[in-house]
Order: sequence, then C-alpha cells, then structure tokens
Amino acid sequence: MVEEEEDRELYVKCPTCGRISQACEHVSHEDIATIKRLIRAGVMVYETEDDLLEDEMFEEAEEGPKRPDLYRLVEPRFTLEDVVLSPKSQEAIQDALVELRDKYLLFERWGLSRVIRKQKGLSMLFAGPPGTGKTMTAEAIAHAMGKPLMIVNYAQLENMWVGETEKNVEKVFRESASQDAVLFFDEADAVFYRRGQTAAPWANRDVNVLLSHLEDFPGVVILATNMAMAMDQALDRRIDIAIEFEFPDAKMREEIFVKTMPAVAPLAEDVDFGELARKYPLSGGHILNVVRQAMRYAARRDGVVGRITMADLKRAASREMAKSDLMKVDHLSATRDQSIRDASKYHG
Ligand SMILES: Nc1ncnc2c1ncn2[C@@H]1O[C@H](COP(=O)(O)OP(=O)(O)OP(=O)(O)O)[C@@H](O)[C@H]1O
Ligand SMILES: [Mg+2]
Repeated sequence: MVEEEEDRELYVKCPTCGRISQACEHVSHEDIATIKRLIRAGVMVYETEDDLLEDEMFEEAEEGPKRPDLYRLVEPRFTLEDVVLSPKSQEAIQDALVELRDKYLLFERWGLSRVIRKQKGLSMLFAGPPGTGKTMTAEAIAHAMGKPLMIVNYAQLENMWVGETEKNVEKVFRESASQDAVLFFDEADAVFYRRGQTAAPWANRDVNVLLSHLEDFPGVVILATNMAMAMDQALDRRIDIAIEFEFPDAKMREEIFVKTMPAVAPLAEDVDFGELARKYPLSGGHILNVVRQAMRYAARRDGVVGRITMADLKRAASREMAKSDLMKVDHLSATRDQSIRDASKYHG
C-alpha cells in the first residue's frame, strides 16, 4: 500500500441516519474501521458485473503508452510462424523475404556493403482492416532479419508537432538508419488520402518529404494502413511490395485461436476452436481479446485450479462481437471526412 493512501482521510456516511464517520445503530465502529481499511487497500465494489467489466476494459486501455513519443523501438517477439495469413499474403511476404535475405547475405555477410556505398532498400505497404496482423508481421520480418523494429505512428507524428512534421520525419529516418532498425509507419493513412486531394498544402509537402525519404532509405520501411484504396495507389511506384491483409476466414480464425491460446493454458475438454471460428467472425485482434477475457472468467471462477471452458470462450466471443458492433457505430458517427469513408472499403 502506498503511504499517502494510508493517510488519506475517508468519510463514511450512514445512509439511514446520515452520521459521518461515527458509530450509530446501523453502522458500528468496527464497520467504519473495516470499510476504511479495505478502501485504503484498494478494494473496489461494483454493483453489476457490467460495471466491473467496463472498469477492466478501461484499465486495459490505460496500460497503453501514455506519453506520445516520436517512435518506439521494440525487440521483435513474433516470428512468421506465429502469424496466420492467407496464401496470397504469405506469397507476397516470401517474395519480400527472399529479396531481403539475399541482400542481407550479399551486403552484410559477404561484405558487399563495404565496397558499395549506396544500396537500395525495400519499401512495403501493408493494407488491411484493424487487427489482421500488420504490426505483428512487421515484427516478424524484423525478427527474421535480426533487427529491432522502430514503430512510428505517422498520424500522431503529424498531429503532435504542427509545422515540425518534416523535421520529425527526417529524424525518424536518420535514427532508424543509425540503429539499423526496420522502420514501421503505422496509421500511414494520411499519405494516401491527402495526395491528389484538395488538402492543406503544408500537409502535402510533409507527405512528399516522407516519400522522398522512402526512396533514399537504404533499409526496410513498412507503411501500414487500414485503407483499401491504398492498394490502388502506386504511391508513385515508391512501394516495392504491397501486401493485402484480409479479414480472416473461418479456417484462418481457427488457426489463430490455436496459435493465440498459450500451450500452457488449461483448457476444458469441451473446447472446440473450430466451432468458435465458424460461429464468430472475429479478427485476430478480437481473438486475442477473447482468449484473454475467457481466461479472466475462468480465473475468477476457480482461481489457480480453473480451466477455460467452451462456455467461457463463447461468452467472451459474444462480448467481443457486441463490442465490435459498438465500435462500428462509433466509426460511422465519427466526424470523419465522408470522402475518406467512401473511398475506403475497410472503415465502418
Ligand atoms: N493474422 C494473425 N495471425 C495470428 N494472430 C493475429 C493475426 N492478426 C492478429 N493477431 C493477433 O492480434 C494481435 C493484434 O494484431 P496486430 O496488432 O498485428 O493487428 P494490426 O493489423 O496491426 O491492427 P491495427 O490496424 O489495429 O494496427 C496480435 O498481437 C495477435 O495476437
Ligand atoms: Mg497495428
């Protein structure tokens, strides 16, 4: 318990006679002391299970990065084995890897980089709906190359420092080269919808800065977007390999369930991932949430001896479906540019 918590003054009011922090015929001294002790220790009381779940979701959201940094450097945890992709996307990834591996072999292992000054890098575009494994695949590619992944949120980068985008884009490219990292621009949507549209001229210039860096960068750059229209735009042919991340079909969803549920997690015998996959059209990101929530249900019910049952998973999946429906409503009501929405198959 933190010290200041211990000192915190609490006022316990009797709902019947209105006395505050004093014993009465309804609330005893001991009651008041117990309530204070438990509240100071951080005990939370919820009237309904929904309130509790909402609070847990809020806590989950809070866990994210609080301070907006220019970039985040991560040691990749995922490998390509962990990602479930359609045969078409897999094929495209293999193309990219072949090119990267040969280059790595020639330039790094066999020392070609010492005699050739300029080597052209590789630029990739990952387009697809949220939670389909774009960030995960970027990590896996960095992993395959034995490099860290530098994650930059492009949308945030533009919003954070008005008028400083150009400088920041430069900084990001410079640092990624010096750290020898794979550079990943998340939410690069701005690049696609601003170009060619009547947008603020300074924004267009920022995008041009990004594109020209893309051309000169010797390393690997990946742009990720949720917009389908990105696939149609050749980005002035500055993208070498474009990969579409499709919403998973039932077979892929089953595989994602299998890969997402940790091998050490105790499953009840009735668990049937095939059935879950057929019944609930969820993305990989949703499936991760389902696994996590089903574990919570099981742990809350039976603690350390708990087993995750099919009922836990179904309940968590229904909840996730309801949540994603809610998010759809939000998406549509959000004050986003109608033309963006029209142009994009993925949003909404
Ligand atoms: N194709 C997949 N195969 C396996 N797991 C997946 C897949 N897609 C998503 N997941 C799970 O969902 C999590 C979130 O996925 P990820 O962050 O890669 O999605 P994303 O496409 O980058 O989404 P966003 O557009 O919202 O950034 C992953 O960490 C993984 O657990
Ligand atoms: Mg992502």
